Amino acid sequence: MIRDACSYGIIGRAIKKGLVSVDCWTPRDDAVNAHRTVDDRPFGGGPGMVMMAEPLIRTLNRIRLNRGNLRLIYLSPQGKPITQSLLGEQKDDLILLCGRYEGIDERFLESQADEEWSLGDFVLSGGEIAAMAVIDGISRLIPGVLGDGQSAQRDSFMSGLLDCPHYTRPEVWRDMATPEVLMSGHHQYIERWRLKQSLGRTWLRRPDLLENGRLTGEERLLLNEFIHEQN
Ligand SMILES: C[S@@+](CC[C@H](N)C(=O)[O-])C[C@H]1O[C@@H](n2cnc3c(N)ncnc32)[C@H](O)[C@@H]1O
Repeated sequence: MIRDACSYGIIGRAIKKGLVSVDCWTPRDDAVNAHRTVDDRPFGGGPGMVMMAEPLIRTLNRIRLNRGNLRLIYLSPQGKPITQSLLGEQKDDLILLCGRYEGIDERFLESQADEEWSLGDFVLSGGEIAAMAVIDGISRLIPGVLGDGQSAQRDSFMSGLLDCPHYTRPEVWRDMATPEVLMSGHHQYIERWRLKQSLGRTWLRRPDLLENGRLTGEERLLLNEFIHEQN
């Protein structure tokens, strides 16, 4: 699943260029019986299955033999939220552990996982989609991965704000015009408009991001202008 998802688009190209590398390991290759079993019924009863610790520790040892002592991140709905700043902090290779079924034997997690990260307050069937989100989110911050080196810098959350709205041809689409300033060719006005829209959108959609009082005097002025224009 991960290999497939990593073969497309920006991540696929980054891997081909050698800017990113993704290795996939499955505990089935380290199962201790002929059926390649990696799960068993939960002690105490109840529905579902639990991933066993032994195949996982064998896989982990194999990875560490190959790649060294990397940090192990367990993707889990109980982990800390995956945010842009968390992804931006990652400078070293990581092992991303994807659970299935009811999850993983707690003794393995207690003894081996360095951190738990969550994609959000909802439950997925497996950690692979969360791992893909982490791989994609970290990879696009690596220099050279995005075509235009600037574009990640302007994205939502990079400066603590949401991104401004974007428009492309045609100038008028179904009676809806592009904001005039974007057609003016005046770069300073365009930058000012974009910053004002970013501030306004953040205020409308994610006021929590503005709560730490990080706005400069100029930004506060622009936001007030935006709020005024809403009425
Ligand atoms: C069905 S879930 C297990 C959920 C677990 N019983 C619980 O309620 O906390 C199976 C696997 O999907 C992954 N997973 C599910 N939701 C996730 C989320 N929000 N973020 C990251 N991983 C998630 C985890 O790896 C988990 O082991």
